[in-house]
Amino acid sequence: MSKTATLEIDGKKHEFPLITGTENETAIDIKSLRAVTGGVTTIDPGFKNTGSCKSAITFLNGEEGILRYRGYSIEELADKADFLEVAYLLIFGDLPNQDQLDKFHADIKSKSLIDDDVKKIVDAFPKSAHPMGVLASLTSALTAFNPASVNVDSEEAMYNSVVKILGKFPVLVAWTMRKKKGLPLDYGDNTLGYVENVLKMMFKQPNEEYHLNPILVNALDKLLILHADHEQNCSTSTVRVVGSSHAGLFASLSAGISALWGPLHGGANQAVLEMLEAIKEDGGDTKKYMAKAKDKNDPFRLMGFGHRVYKNFDPRAKIIKKAADEVLNDLGVDDPILNIAKGLEQEALNDDYFVQRKLYPNVDFYSGIIYRAMGIPTEMFTVMFALGRLPGWIAQWREMRLEKEPIGRPRQVYTGENLRAFEPIENR
Ligand code: CMC
Repeated sequence: MSKTATLEIDGKKHEFPLITGTENETAIDIKSLRAVTGGVTTIDPGFKNTGSCKSAITFLNGEEGILRYRGYSIEELADKADFLEVAYLLIFGDLPNQDQLDKFHADIKSKSLIDDDVKKIVDAFPKSAHPMGVLASLTSALTAFNPASVNVDSEEAMYNSVVKILGKFPVLVAWTMRKKKGLPLDYGDNTLGYVENVLKMMFKQPNEEYHLNPILVNALDKLLILHADHEQNCSTSTVRVVGSSHAGLFASLSAGISALWGPLHGGANQAVLEMLEAIKEDGGDTKKYMAKAKDKNDPFRLMGFGHRVYKNFDPRAKIIKKAADEVLNDLGVDDPILNIAKGLEQEALNDDYFVQRKLYPNVDFYSGIIYRAMGIPTEMFTVMFALGRLPGWIAQWREMRLEKEPIGRPRQVYTGENLRAFEPIENR
């Protein structure tokens, strides 16, 4: 017999079906709640207890520190796969064979050119503009240059829209950084792999040959894989909700980029480095900042610590911590900022406040450190997160459209004034 949950309101009982996911997660299906209760709704600020959809893409168990894409553990993918294979896996559901991967890459490369007029938009931004604002605007602008909306009922049209954005987005990422540095805007080098091409597009100087460093290629590949999806987080939910109005893919992604920008989400990697810099400028006293983080009258939070769903450890942080050590050793980086980071990490791991609240370093604590060692400017860190998250956003948008999900439209509990009469201005 299928299980149900019973809700009693004013002595009247209502039954709701329980649904169980493939990893035995249970949810109360309240689709009929308002209809059967005569308009009673639920309230759940921050959606901490609300499942917004069924999804077959990413499994995450925060208590046990598990993260899997389409059933594969993040540890194994980070070790054995490359970013493009993971992108294919997330979007289409299975790992590609060599022919499928070659075709996927060739199709992405064939769509990587951007209308040269987009450069005029880049030109119009001041150099001081934050790269996340520029990236969100340029992604949105792609809609103007590719106005045809995707026919979601056509597999071919869906595939074309996927390879188009995977081809163009890295160019936009590189342009946001080159604009900031005053470098000419180039197109990629189609003889290279996806991640190699990203690095060359970002760093190539107009008057020098660019030499790829395999350590950096490997580190970036891993970082992008670790960020590639994270189920229904703030930016992904944004992409799904915007897309649920049948706004186009580029518009939905642009909204996701804006959501990612905030320091409580993807902006944390930038905020971590800024915090470490500030501690260094202030004499490097990590204890002082630990005390500030614990002081309830001080809004300061230790950036890069804590997570909405990981209440044990962030499995991505474990992988990236190891990668960070390797990159720093291989590159021979000796950076006082890193000593401050290590000091903070040790203190927090042994501090009652952090231990009791299960606040562990998250992926962004370490990713900023690697990006810094790679020579990527601090303001670009969240842009790099967006580059990694792109396949996840696409996969979630595609799933939402293929499942024909209804428009996202939450309810509220109104707490404002009751009906009152309009006062003419001379009487107010
Ligand atoms: N420093 C100090 N105290 C903290 C921190 C922190 N970083 N994070 C949470 N707390 C405290 C918080 O004050 C609260 O204490 P109390 O129970 O005494 O009121 C308790 O821990 C629970 O915090 P919460 O805000 O209810 O937790 P949340 O699940 O709503 O927030 C979070 C999660 C990630 C927004 C938060 O931990 C935070 O602001 N961290 C810093 C920003 C950060 O690193 N964000 C990146 C997340 S990973 C990238 C991504 O996936 O987006």
